[in-house]
Amino acid sequence: MSKLDHILKNNIDWVNSIKAEKVDFFEGLAEQQTPDYLWIGCSDSRIPATQLMGLMPGDVFVHRNIANMVVHADFNALSVIHYAVEYLKVKHIIVCGHYGCGGVRCALSDDRFGTVDSWIQHIKDVKHLHREELSKLEGVAKEDRLCELNTMEQVQNVCKSPPVQDAWERGQELHVHAWIYGINDGKIQNLQHSISGPV
Ligand code: CO
Repeated sequence: MSKLDHILKNNIDWVNSIKAEKVDFFEGLAEQQTPDYLWIGCSDSRIPATQLMGLMPGDVFVHRNIANMVVHADFNALSVIHYAVEYLKVKHIIVCGHYGCGGVRCALSDDRFGTVDSWIQHIKDVKHLHREELSKLEGVAKEDRLCELNTMEQVQNVCKSPPVQDAWERGQELHVHAWIYGINDGKIQNLQHSISGPV
């Protein structure tokens, strides 16, 4: 017996609970996906994108990495954005950061962590960009603020990406939002930094 059998059992229970609500739910989804949202979030296990928004399979296209970064040379993230915008025609891209982000915490320390340091360097760049504001803060306040600033910077990076610029040039409806999630209360806050066209 596999140590993961309980997960496979959970899966069957989950399938049955969805079918109890809508018997042909999975058959419908097999035809096509038409999500309205692209979620760009942190890989953190405490932030299950679809679940915490109360949405269902088929509702959200998802990209996750350490500290919800959108790096210009990251073809993985760019391919996801391209596919979501040009083919799935999502109407909203949500970059959702979170308080207590381990990636952001690493960026605030001078310790070396190994391979992940190259990735963390992108968060350190954001820290450097906002060094004046951050220098006035300490401890958790500083960490929380960098989580917010990093999320808003990634929104800027989404907006500057070729697929998003092209979509706006075509006149396609597309809104990019910055949200932040509280792992201690499960609540999402809107950082009021939404962008709906070229600036
Ligand atoms: Co995180």
